[in-house]
Amino acid sequence: MSRVIFQTENKEKVVELESGQTLLVVAEKADMGLKSACGGHGSCGQCRIWVTAGREETNATTDAEKKHLGSLNLAQGERLACQVVPTGDVTIKV
Ligand code: FES
Repeated sequence: MSRVIFQTENKEKVVELESGQTLLVVAEKADMGLKSACGGHGSCGQCRIWVTAGREETNATTDAEKKHLGSLNLAQGERLACQVVPTGDVTIKV
């Protein structure tokens, strides 16, 4: 089973990933406190996270991410948690 490692400034939490789950759903189960005003529809731009490892295990950037995140940040790993469906181990900075 794949894992998502959430890292904050002072803690790290490891959560098992169920197939097809977005990072927002996993973060909510892990009580990581991500903001999500639009309920995960890609319209509010609040659920920003950084994928610091395992970027090859994530889906391609969506149009919603291109709208809300700058191309430089996208290139460096910033994503919208509600748009990312990992297929393997990833590490996320919240
Ligand atoms: S929850 Fe609104 S953009 Fe992700």
